[in-house]
Amino acid sequence: MKCSRCHEEAVIYYPQSRQALCAEHLKEYIERKVKRAIERFKMLKRGEKVLVAVSGGKDSLMLWEILVDMGYDTEGLYIDLGLGEYSKSSEEYSRGFAEERDLTLRIVRVKEDHGIDIVAAAKRLRRPTCSVCGTVKRYIMNREAVEAGRVLATGHNMDDEASTLLGNLLTWNGEQLLRASPSLPSTHPKLARRIKPLIYVSERESATYCFSHGIKYIIPECPYSEGARLSVVKEALSKIEDRSPGSLLNFVDGFYRKSEGILCRRNGGIKEGVELKPCPLCGYLTSSSGPCAFCRLKSLFSSGE
Ligand code: AMP
Ligand code: FES
Ligand code: ZN
Ligand code: ZN
Repeated sequence: MKCSRCHEEAVIYYPQSRQALCAEHLKEYIERKVKRAIERFKMLKRGEKVLVAVSGGKDSLMLWEILVDMGYDTEGLYIDLGLGEYSKSSEEYSRGFAEERDLTLRIVRVKEDHGIDIVAAAKRLRRPTCSVCGTVKRYIMNREAVEAGRVLATGHNMDDEASTLLGNLLTWNGEQLLRASPSLPSTHPKLARRIKPLIYVSERESATYCFSHGIKYIIPECPYSEGARLSVVKEALSKIEDRSPGSLLNFVDGFYRKSEGILCRRNGGIKEGVELKPCPLCGYLTSSSGPCAFCRLKSLFSSGE
């Protein structure tokens, strides 16, 4: 099949518009979607520097390449979560990507740099590994972005956003719904601005982009992934999208546009009424009256325990 805009071989087909795109026109199309998200949600001002959190997966690596090509000043951040082969392999893909393009990649090692063993901590606290991992990732991403004076960009794509939104609707998790936003402002010097420039880009588009532009990425899911419930939601959404292409885009875009102004995202994504205080140990913000969740995890592994 030929590209609908030139005579090159197509790499992707859109049944809804009956358009096919070649690798270069797909890139142009994705860049337009990223630009639209950045402008619509006022994600970045000209000259603002970005820290792209990369997991070695297709979305975050593609996002990094696109932001570089759009002219943004970027650095990458890879967090070694210490999850065995999975972490080793994700790091190789992230490093390989950065080295090939001569880009700066910061690497933070949760075990070596902070003394936290995520799997052991989860066992001791009887919490799911994913939940401890989430606490650690959020803390490190925020801290690194604040210290670098950069806006934090993550690779959450349209399918991720749609399944999170639908998952939260199914359980009426109003709390999470109210705080969701593709662009959270910094409301405190210790809180980085956080953005999701890929909210209009589907998983299919980023996989096709990486494949057709030579980006090598990690394919297996994290072995501790708690995806059971979320994957049912993802499957359902993918069926809806197959039957009625464009539904996910309408769902995600509609939610964020219609909810603009009503929701409490002006509060930097923090629950209304919650007062954040500096953690007595690290100085980053916490809602708890003592040390923050990250410092509490660290203390599990400090000597004498
Ligand atoms: P996930 O929560 O695994 O779906 O990942 C969502 C986003 O978080 C990714 O697109 C990345 O931007 C970021 N991310 C996930 N894992 C890491 C990691 N180990 N290091 C840096 N960023 C990450
Ligand atoms: Fe953190 Fe899976 S990536 S537990
Ligand atoms: Zn073309
Ligand atoms: Zn702390």
